[in-house]
Amino acid sequence: MPLCVRRNRPREIPVTHEPPLGDEPQLPINPQVPHPARIYDYLLGGKDHYAADRSAAEETIRRAPQVRESARANRAWMLRAARYLARQGVRQFLDVGTGIPTSPNLHEAAQQISPDCRVVYTDNDPVVLAHARALLSSSPEGRTAYIQADLRRPEEILGAPELWATLDRDRPVALVLSAVLHFVRDEEEPGRIVAAFRDALPPGSYLALSHTTNDIQPRRAADAAAVYGERRAAALMVPRPLDQVEALFDGFEVVEPGVVQLPHWHPEGPVRPRLLDEVWLYGGVGRLGGG
Ligand SMILES: C[S@@+](CC[C@H](N)C(=O)[O-])C[C@H]1O[C@@H](n2cnc3c(N)ncnc32)[C@H](O)[C@@H]1O
Repeated sequence: MPLCVRRNRPREIPVTHEPPLGDEPQLPINPQVPHPARIYDYLLGGKDHYAADRSAAEETIRRAPQVRESARANRAWMLRAARYLARQGVRQFLDVGTGIPTSPNLHEAAQQISPDCRVVYTDNDPVVLAHARALLSSSPEGRTAYIQADLRRPEEILGAPELWATLDRDRPVALVLSAVLHFVRDEEEPGRIVAAFRDALPPGSYLALSHTTNDIQPRRAADAAAVYGERRAAALMVPRPLDQVEALFDGFEVVEPGVVQLPHWHPEGPVRPRLLDEVWLYGGVGRLGGG
């Protein structure tokens, strides 16, 4: 199975609950700096986080208890979107901002529908790399790969040899940006980043995107998001209103029911009304014409 490891920084504090991948040396991890991947892991009830991550996560929960429900709803949406896309015939996925593996991962959901699905995962947190083995346990018919990279430099992901060695350039790809673009500041131009990926995707490709919003309880959302800045986390959190999230689908035809609060997107059971107060994320799926 292909594995691409980028090393940009010197070795620091190696830490993992799993053995390293083969002979791959560990990438630097700074446990003092709260990181979005580990805060999210804590919110989901995982075990891969440090005191600084736990403390930042607890502070967001104190300011907005909804964040935990939002994280769970996001993970559930991402898996629903993967199954939906596989049912549409998509067999190739590029998941950017993968997160620390939490079974089922995206490839497990997609391969449940069609075992030949291929998934390339990418994230900038070295802790995700330390667990990449869990992301690489593909079905025999499918395939997975992992690229350590920063989505703010899409050209590095698009230029990584492992990407097109794993996925077929001539067949549609689903680009998955699940709960990651709210870690990109306005001046880093999230729209430009999505457009760079879009322009490299084959016709008939898809975008599945979810994003935190401040529309539902603006003050609380701003208070909770501010924790990332106050704690000098590895990235700031930027909740955005619906029109700005919709604008990220520029060039894609958004499928029904549109960009909506996550529980409303192709629910697989009844939606508890209360959930709509608690889930502060929008999500949707768009399709590129021409396929
Ligand atoms: C909230 S988690 C979402 C994980 C997963 N996509 C999901 O929806 O369950 C956000 C992920 O995005 C990653 N991330 C944040 N900024 C990133 C960047 N600039 N480049 C790559 N990954 C990034 C974090 O490391 C983290 O794993």
